[in-house]
Amino acid sequence: MTAQGEHRAAETPLTGRGAHLAVELPLSGRGEQGAVELPLTGQGEQRAVELPLSGRGEQHSVELPLSGQGEQGAVEPSLTALGEHLTAETPLTAQGERTPVEPSLTALERTALLTAALRAAETSRPDRLYTDPYAAGLAGEAGWALLAEVAAAGRDVPSTPDFNAIRTRFLDDHLRRLTHEQGIRQVVSAPAGLDTRAWRLGWPDGTRWFEIDRPALLDHKRRRLAEATPRADLRTVAADLTGPDWEQSLRASGYDPTRPSVWVLEGLLYYLPEGAVRRLLTRIAAYSAPGSEIAADLVNTAALTLPDMRPLLAVFEEWGTPWVSGSDEPEHLFDTCGYTVTARQPGDEGADFGRWPDPVVPREVPGARRVFFVHGSLRAPR
Ligand SMILES: C[S@@+](CC[C@H](N)C(=O)[O-])C[C@H]1O[C@@H](n2cnc3c(N)ncnc32)[C@H](O)[C@@H]1O
Repeated sequence: MTAQGEHRAAETPLTGRGAHLAVELPLSGRGEQGAVELPLTGQGEQRAVELPLSGRGEQHSVELPLSGQGEQGAVEPSLTALGEHLTAETPLTAQGERTPVEPSLTALERTALLTAALRAAETSRPDRLYTDPYAAGLAGEAGWALLAEVAAAGRDVPSTPDFNAIRTRFLDDHLRRLTHEQGIRQVVSAPAGLDTRAWRLGWPDGTRWFEIDRPALLDHKRRRLAEATPRADLRTVAADLTGPDWEQSLRASGYDPTRPSVWVLEGLLYYLPEGAVRRLLTRIAAYSAPGSEIAADLVNTAALTLPDMRPLLAVFEEWGTPWVSGSDEPEHLFDTCGYTVTARQPGDEGADFGRWPDPVVPREVPGARRVFFVHGSLRAPR
């Protein structure tokens, strides 16, 4: 199966550990033999299935060896094997309709479904940079639908899946270093979205993991991860990061502002106006102890205006979640808010992982579209 495959979601009853299930998958392919990675939610396990595809729109029956607990589970096939990029086709339900959006979430909250779908797609690649066994279940049909829209818009711009894979892996490695090697024991994921680092990676004993996000999103996540066990001392904090009082909520959940922390602002800053970005960074700095760290991703200003970005930007605008800010000098931006940081672009040393397809345009070249991975430390008071 190649990138021409479509996504199909099937509600599947799981019938007990080791049982076999037949799932009807309406698939479209090119008549080749393909491997389909099926991340199974609930239990977070995966099965690779070989299935012969013999033409567009044909129906196939697949035997799935499943291990479950006899409950209803969702099977989300992501057909991205053989290292190819995602199809831009809109995912369809088993009935051939466009998939519904997740109705309980706002547009901004739904962007977390997109990110989860990207992680599910990455997980199904043979050359994956990480494995997130929970991502497919968290993304659901709505996540695949959002991803298909982004993939369709992003054909001519550096690949969103590659960027996202590198970002996830970059931050995985960075957080492991800060906790395992540098002794930080408070991680604040702000916003957490449907990130699953607290579940899928191992953390030193005593690591407190704070997930800040909006209440509905955290609810959705709690329900979907009900069976999974976090590998850190997880604290969820339902709060608005632009609101007046997230500090109190964070404190009430066990955050200690006198101990070092690392804050991860992943997939957030471009949705906030520049003033709100500065206010947030300044508030985080004021609520962090000496020795604290920060990591974030952001785009530059050209990424908000260049013609080849229009289709992608238009998708986010249509969703009601436009990208509204970027910085050409992220080091300076963070410096004015209390941090000394380094900014890397995907493809730079330490932020490539053999995945970034394009040459990195040097910083002194104006007008190029960029994304930055920023990381650094709280500055000592001057
Ligand atoms: C694109 S997702 C990224 C989340 C996560 N870091 C990840 O990688 O999956 C954006 C998330 O930001 C959250 N968010 C956006 N604005 C927020 C705000 N003002 N306060 C709290 N959460 C916010 C949304 O609910 C959503 O979960």
